[in-house]
Amino acid sequence: MEKKNIDWGNLGFTYMRTDQRFVANWKDGVWDDGAMTADADLVINECAGVLQYSQSCFEGLKAYTTEDGRIVTFRPDLNGQRMEDSCRRLEMPVYPKEKFVEAVIRTVKANESYVPPYGSGATLYIRPFMYASGPVIGVKPADEFQFRIFTTPVGPYFKGGVKPITIRISDFDRAAPNGTGHIKAGLNYAMSLYAIVDAHKQGFDENMYLDAATHTKVEETGGANFIFVTGDNKVVTPKSGSILPSITRRSLMYVAKEYLGLETEEREIYKEELKDFAECGLCGTAAVISPVGKIVDHGTEICLPAGMTDMGPVTRKLYDTLTGIQMGRIEAPAGWIQEIR
Ligand code: PLP
Ligand code: COI
Repeated sequence: MEKKNIDWGNLGFTYMRTDQRFVANWKDGVWDDGAMTADADLVINECAGVLQYSQSCFEGLKAYTTEDGRIVTFRPDLNGQRMEDSCRRLEMPVYPKEKFVEAVIRTVKANESYVPPYGSGATLYIRPFMYASGPVIGVKPADEFQFRIFTTPVGPYFKGGVKPITIRISDFDRAAPNGTGHIKAGLNYAMSLYAIVDAHKQGFDENMYLDAATHTKVEETGGANFIFVTGDNKVVTPKSGSILPSITRRSLMYVAKEYLGLETEEREIYKEELKDFAECGLCGTAAVISPVGKIVDHGTEICLPAGMTDMGPVTRKLYDTLTGIQMGRIEAPAGWIQEIR
């Protein structure tokens, strides 16, 4: 398989049109078989549910080239499960997780020439999504939907790769208690755009959202969960019903405990505790683990002891172990690696 002529080492986190995508349609209460298509453009009715009432959800995962030249994905069954959960909460038809995994494999295979080579620092980002294609004018679920998966080769989510970033505590809320923060609804991201554009204007890389009810507890950023390391090397992560259950985070907590022998804890984390942590990182498929060097709380700077030049030592071990598992350098727990080729 001849690779595309792409400058793999200099990719950012941007969209590049690749050759093939998977498409399945829900009509009259059933999914069709789905097929691959070269057509990246959509024609939909002006009154489609996605355009009027934002009935849509998505997923994000990656394909990797391993050290020995295989192509794999990481825990796609969990993305399939989370998409089922998103669909149920949004009154969308469930695309069964087993078929989701099959479609992911098929899409990656069809775009194999875009899977970045081992060691390039790039990966193939896979974006499954579903949207309401049927027309609705009264506020109700549509009755026709489309499920698609496209891929795009990507580099690091944050410019500068794994250099520590600076974030601010946001006055905007991301998700309401009993709202949709725990699913991957497009609407969660639409409402975060104002806050992220404002954060960038003020010189910050990301927003730290607090719980909407009390503004005292740490939730997550617009596109990643948090992990913290305490002074005595315990890995701690926020417990909340309104954050996205990150697959990267769940994997890191397992790696911390089972591979690195560290104590781990998922609990409520108060804003007041931030100054006591030794390390902080954002974790997610796109972000992998991005170290946070500084958190700014309305003018007050909280500088993490790990500093602004490199990852902290525990973050580094977590990063190396997780990426080692993903790239086939370290043996993975059973079921974590889905072979594609
Ligand atoms: N939180 C939000 C809001 C996200 O968009 C993402 C990205 O998917 C994550 C967390 C990280 O989740 P995962 O590790 O499953 O990619
Ligand atoms: C991911 O990490 O896959 C995400 O979806 C985060 C962001 C790009 C929305």
